Amino acid sequence: MESHPLLDFPQFSLVPQTPQIIALMTILRDRTTQRSDFVFYSDRLFRILMEEGLAYLPFSKKAIITPTEVPVDGLEFGTKLCGVSIIRAGESMENALRQVLPHVRIGKILIQRKEDGSGTCQHFYTKIPKDISHRNVLLLDPMLATGGSAICAIGELLKNGVLEQNILFLNMVAVPEGVKAVLSAYPKIKIVSVALDEGLNEKKYIVPGIGDFGDRYFGTE
Ligand code: PRP
Ligand code: URA
Repeated sequence: MESHPLLDFPQFSLVPQTPQIIALMTILRDRTTQRSDFVFYSDRLFRILMEEGLAYLPFSKKAIITPTEVPVDGLEFGTKLCGVSIIRAGESMENALRQVLPHVRIGKILIQRKEDGSGTCQHFYTKIPKDISHRNVLLLDPMLATGGSAICAIGELLKNGVLEQNILFLNMVAVPEGVKAVLSAYPKIKIVSVALDEGLNEKKYIVPGIGDFGDRYFGTE
């Protein structure tokens, strides 16, 4: 993706589209990729996405002295964090989050999008840290298609006192209509994606896409 009007939008960012990222995405996009490889390369991309996503969080100044006795004005994370995964597919991103933040608290929201192509979703369950209103939230879901699931999940977070500007939504593949739908509903959140695809087919699947992420990752095709 060399240029797209969304890329000028400050609330939306793509992981830098290096040949390595394109090569990893090509493995995921290939319908002949076996499940073990799909899981392995998804996990690699999630780790990269986590590192990229953390760069958008607030930092504060930290002065230290190096072993060579030189003072350095450095930085440290300036905020309390937590992850919230949208069950089921979002749970596949939790390990990558723990690899970069070993003690991170992780909440869950269960939302199922209807498979009838309507783009509508149903919310079943929310379990999140009690002090979530004081935290920056990394919302995890690999696919941003119509945006219905994300809009529902963000609504749950706001109901529980999270500030809109404290939500960072991390995903693997997004489409412009999904990004626009989420940012129209919640213009202060930030979205970081690995890939921005063309659009949705008649069943509201992302094209070219990677198919049903949850089914391929968890082996339920
Ligand atoms: C997938 C995906 C997102 C949602 C995206 O979940 O993980 O949650 O679809 O689509 P949307 O932007 O149109 O809402 P799905 O409901 O298929 O469940 P799964 O996690 O069990 O695969
Ligand atoms: N969810 C998926 O897993 N894939 C899509 O293409 C759209 C929603």
